[in-house]
Amino acid sequence: MIIAHISDLHLNTYYRDSHLKEIKNVLRYCNDYQVDHLVITGDLTDNASEVNLNMLQKLLAKYRFDNADKLSVIVGNHDIFGGLQKAEDIFSFPERCRKTDYDFKIKNFHNIFAKTFDNCVYLGERNSYPYAKIIDDVLFIGINSNAEYTTLSNPFASNGEVSLQQFNEIVHILNKYSNSVKYKIILIHHHFNKIKGSKNFSSAGLWQNIEKQTMRLRKKKRLISLFKQFNVDLILHGHMHITEEYEKKGLKFLNAGGSIKSSNSNKLKINIITIDRDNISTEIKRIPITKSEREENLDSLKQFELPTGNIPNENKEYKGLYMR
Ligand SMILES: [Fe+2]
Repeated sequence: MIIAHISDLHLNTYYRDSHLKEIKNVLRYCNDYQVDHLVITGDLTDNASEVNLNMLQKLLAKYRFDNADKLSVIVGNHDIFGGLQKAEDIFSFPERCRKTDYDFKIKNFHNIFAKTFDNCVYLGERNSYPYAKIIDDVLFIGINSNAEYTTLSNPFASNGEVSLQQFNEIVHILNKYSNSVKYKIILIHHHFNKIKGSKNFSSAGLWQNIEKQTMRLRKKKRLISLFKQFNVDLILHGHMHITEEYEKKGLKFLNAGGSIKSSNSNKLKINIITIDRDNISTEIKRIPITKSEREENLDSLKQFELPTGNIPNENKEYKGLYMR
């Protein structure tokens, strides 16, 4: 079985940087590569737009990544709360987060991708997380790691937390199904590696340090212990916009956060996981993309019903304050 893992697509047709062209390139590549199963670990949209989620679902369906055997998705913080689009949003964003109906947004996300949950052997009691599905010899466990908004502990709605109820349900899934499969793969949005702090006191360095405090996955130690106890083979995630493979406490992690948005490369990146009878191997595939390809291609948007009336006159995105 060939699994492709991508993350943080941040589709956003309301603003200039829609990423639609890049997303199409990635999906075309997965199709040409004859990927058996596609995993997307959150932040499918940038601004939690239902229109954009539906667009993406249609685009995935074009490549037949639209049913439970072919696609697994989990929700990211941007699919629930959205993000800052322009400088002045910094003042209105907290109020927007406060007014967001967390459970409704997750339910809506699940309704749009309903067909991908058809074969789940377990659906979480509160909002369908965690979920578990078994394909061939692989157990996939999808986790919702998005903390609810609070002014003090989650002021940018970007921190992560897996509730005790969800944790207990993950224990239940692992106890019940881990002996009947050969491989166990966890799907989660938030990262487990550390963001490096900065010792420089420029605004960029200062921001890096603030960001470090606003992008944490709390209580990750108990998750790591649990994954270790059940010999989980791979943990797939996104959230930080880099693509990398790393190890922690003997566990193997793959971040696909740089699939589309990556600050230091002009290449799209896809994690490819190849599973055969005796082995599981991973590889990061890089797809070159030219600058002109990276630029907005309005023609490619025409086939979709584009949202109107909310496109800002000025492209005044606050680059230094982009939340994952
Ligand atoms: Fe995120």
